[in-house]
Amino acid sequence: MCGIFGYVTNKEEKLGPILIEAAQRLTYRGYDSVGAATLRDGTIDLRKDVGKVEAVSEKYRFAEMTGSRGITQLRWATFGEPSQVNSQPHIDSDGDMVGAHNGNVVNNVELREQFIAEGMTVRSQNDGETCVHAVERYINRGYQFIDAIRLAYGDLQGDYAFVIGRANDDKLYAFKKGSGMVVGLGEGFTCVSSDLPSILPLTRTIIRPQDGEIVTLWADRVEVRSVKDGRLIERAPEQVSESMDAVQKGGYPHFMLKEIHEQPQVARELLHLLDGSPEVEQLVDRMKRARHLYFIACGTSYHAALAGSVYFAQLAGRPAIPVLAPQFIPQYAPAVGHEDVGLFISQSGETKDVLNALEAAEKRGMECYGLANVIGSTLTKATSFCLPLCCGYEISVPATKTFTNQVITFLYLAYRMAGQDTRELDHIPELMEQTMDATGAQVESIAKDINSWEDMYCLGYGATYPIALEGALKLKEITYAHCEGMLSTEFKHGPLSAVSRDFPIIFVAGPKDVPLIISGINEVKVRGARTIVIAEDDPRLHANADDVIVLPKSDAQISALLGVLPLQMLSYHMSIMRGFDPDFPRNLSKTLTVD
Ligand code: AGP
Repeated sequence: MCGIFGYVTNKEEKLGPILIEAAQRLTYRGYDSVGAATLRDGTIDLRKDVGKVEAVSEKYRFAEMTGSRGITQLRWATFGEPSQVNSQPHIDSDGDMVGAHNGNVVNNVELREQFIAEGMTVRSQNDGETCVHAVERYINRGYQFIDAIRLAYGDLQGDYAFVIGRANDDKLYAFKKGSGMVVGLGEGFTCVSSDLPSILPLTRTIIRPQDGEIVTLWADRVEVRSVKDGRLIERAPEQVSESMDAVQKGGYPHFMLKEIHEQPQVARELLHLLDGSPEVEQLVDRMKRARHLYFIACGTSYHAALAGSVYFAQLAGRPAIPVLAPQFIPQYAPAVGHEDVGLFISQSGETKDVLNALEAAEKRGMECYGLANVIGSTLTKATSFCLPLCCGYEISVPATKTFTNQVITFLYLAYRMAGQDTRELDHIPELMEQTMDATGAQVESIAKDINSWEDMYCLGYGATYPIALEGALKLKEITYAHCEGMLSTEFKHGPLSAVSRDFPIIFVAGPKDVPLIISGINEVKVRGARTIVIAEDDPRLHANADDVIVLPKSDAQISALLGVLPLQMLSYHMSIMRGFDPDFPRNLSKTLTVD
């Protein structure tokens, strides 16, 4: 996820070191390119490239950059490959404005075409440049700067935060829509950033602009105006007292909890991005024409692949083979060819098992595409193209937000394969919020009840089967208890003998599978099990199970996705109750680069 930082001071000075340090503080968000611009005496000094902050800033001697205003940006590629020209900041056509954004402008492609037709010089594919030209368009039409920004805001669709400055000026301007942005006020300077941790070492006096507000930053003051009518908004600065660690975790005690709560927002951003992605069209077209389709991954990403194959069959009538990556090599690689399409799914894009399978598939001429969170990772470079998961950095070892965005991507692709209107998916983020609000307290209380058990099961059927597997993996990963995920109907074929008094069994039930799940519940209940069901409200479930964790009403596919949220929270609470650190479970690593 990109990060921006802007700085305004009352005298011309060496801004390079300030910009480098700010960029370093933004690196935890993940990035592939770095850039910096300083503004002074009517000139703009812009330096940028692909690479790490240390390497790029040394190569281009950022430390020597001087000015009274500066902007730095870390880019996490979505529109346009990681390259120098696509790196940010960007200048306007004649080079007297410079700006950078984080987030995604989803009508980037359309706007770029309009700007080119209007005679502007568009140098990159990147949507950060689009933000600059969006302002330039109205300056060209004779508007004052603030009014040009107000009009540009109306043209730019998506979630983003943006900072821009003019060479002949003493200010920076910033505005946001959907993404985070914080303004800092210090002694002789002001600054603006994508997040609080990057400005805390400079000042603890801050202002939090809202969506639809424009901030003008002078060295000694800031002014907030409404995008709607340009009127001045009174906003008293606040003092931040939390520690840096607490701030980095966004006020949550653990990254895992923060990332669980980020899911509705990253889902929203992903859906916007998929709507604007030309690659989706291409991928769907290729998948429609493929002889066989393979979804290849490990761990949590494999569970998303499994969910994807259920969605493809249920919604588009298209079979897809979900495969654990290492098993692809002996079981499928000998049989695949250029008529087949493989989709390789990985949060990190570096999992060796996945890369080995990719190599085997490529040797056989299979067409290979990716789905990854870390842009610039090996997978993103080795496949024909890779759809981004759009989650920003996931720091906690247990994958949460990347799983839900993987599943949403599959659901989106299945809709497109079926020719169904993807706008029906737009309410997913809201349903996720409702699920977390409605189930939070109950899940914590169930966690207390079952926490003494070292063995349990999590069962699902159809679209909820992959969710049950994922819930069981989360429980194992951070509670160190054994939890087996299984197809509910398989339980009677052996594991039933494990049931004793109060033995916890969790069922994830799809709205159409209630009768089948009720059979499963009773099978174990008569043998003493404690039965917990995650499902939409249904009196039949209340009549049969010990606990029903109620999901909001949706459909079979979305309901399954929502079912993972209480399971993530259950694992989190049990991990905490056991005194473990859910972010860094013993023996595990976030990125597995070994066989
Ligand atoms: C998930 O909580 C795990 N940390 C793990 O199963 C992970 O999903 C697996 O190692 C695959 O990683 P990847 O998505 O980065 O390829």
